[in-house]
Amino acid sequence: MFEEFILVEQSLKLSGEVNLSGAKNAALVIMSSILLTEGKSILKNIPFSQDVFNMAKLLEGLGAEIKFDFENKEVEIDTSKVAKFKANPEIMKKMRASILVMGPLLARFGRAEIAMPGGCVLGLRPINFHLTNFKKMGVVFIQENDFLTATVEKLISRRIILEYPSVGATENIMMAAVLAEGKTTIINAALEPEVLDLISILKKMGAKINILAPATIEIEGVNFLNPVKHEIMCDRLEAGSIILAAAVTGGQVYIPNGDASVLDVFLLKLEEMGHTIKAEKDGKGIHFVATESPKAVSFKTAQYPCFPTDLQAPMMVAQCLAEGVSEIEETVFENRLLHVKELQKMGAKIEVEGTKAIITGVKELQGTKVNASDIRASCALVLAGLAAKGSTTITGVHHFKRGYDELDQKLESLGAKIVINDNEIIRKSSNNKQVEL
Ligand code: EPU
Repeated sequence: MFEEFILVEQSLKLSGEVNLSGAKNAALVIMSSILLTEGKSILKNIPFSQDVFNMAKLLEGLGAEIKFDFENKEVEIDTSKVAKFKANPEIMKKMRASILVMGPLLARFGRAEIAMPGGCVLGLRPINFHLTNFKKMGVVFIQENDFLTATVEKLISRRIILEYPSVGATENIMMAAVLAEGKTTIINAALEPEVLDLISILKKMGAKINILAPATIEIEGVNFLNPVKHEIMCDRLEAGSIILAAAVTGGQVYIPNGDASVLDVFLLKLEEMGHTIKAEKDGKGIHFVATESPKAVSFKTAQYPCFPTDLQAPMMVAQCLAEGVSEIEETVFENRLLHVKELQKMGAKIEVEGTKAIITGVKELQGTKVNASDIRASCALVLAGLAAKGSTTITGVHHFKRGYDELDQKLESLGAKIVINDNEIIRKSSNNKQVEL
């Protein structure tokens, strides 16, 4: 059977200008939030990645009508005919973000049926924070094998305390609370920029939401929400990946629509390595110039505004090629160091102790055959391939396609030699402006 692969040739000194796509992790939850309204909503700056197409299929399975406008990077979601509440188990297996339809379905229809997401490659990834707090809000769950049916007559507003600021649990609970009578407070809420983008669209729909210190979201329930037009925020993780591509190849890049203010700790660490970063007015527009002699820096991942776990693997590549020893600790997911083994195959010197990686910088990596285990590992291996001598062949291509909207082509525009070898029938058509999935 044909196995897809990405072929990357050493491509030093990437340079040029690139604009970012919309943020995948904001797009997924925002698409789901449209279920809270009845009618046609339009999302602009939608990234065309496989996870977004999967979320579209999931919503279609519930009765929504979806039209992508590939030319203008928009999607129209019409929720007038939503009348089914069972999330497609095949899609749920592929994408954990499917759990995010639960809050909106419970809020609007009082019923949601989902397949229990199992553990994933990053770790166990339970959904206990979602379920425990929905129960507190009056939801009753019946589990049959791997299927969970959730029902509620009337959602009860509550004071919800999260023991960890889970992004998904914050989003799901907030989407349920916007239509619950009375005031819900979420204490120790996640306040990632993607959560703030969700809050911004919910407010446009008519939701009443306030953010209070420390890390608290207060929601005053309303009776109904209206369809809206909204522009998805730009992808800070794509921005980080493109900057790192310039860093590991000794190049420079300008990202006109990049927002430095949502990448503070990440950019701080790059500056500590010796790289030069300048942001234009209000933090928008990022200029990056790589140093010729990068120094190793240590960091640990944690919730926003700390170092993002989704940039840990790509940043590790930069440490592999820096002078000195660095220590990276992954604190968000218990098993997010699978890329280490692959980087070792390319000549990286890394030791793993539990959730810590200790890296001794080397002069050069060598291209070889490697496999990507998750979305961010796929990006890290592409970056390693750009810096490595010779050619790198990366399998596990579906991870790259799940998370990124033509990142390969953006890197190519900076001078990267990168080809995705697949046998996919591309459903985009330049003659056919609006394409239904
Ligand atoms: N957790 C629990 N119980 C829960 C929920 C989470 O123990 O009920 C644990 C998880 O197992 C994990 C930690 O809490 O160890 C953080 O999980 P969180 O809920 O914050 O993450 P998520 O909502 O599942 C989103 C992103 C991830 C990103 C994390 C952290 C989406 C669709 N996914 O996941 O993105 O890494 O937040 O920022 O928004 C990616 O894009 O590659 C990706 C994995």
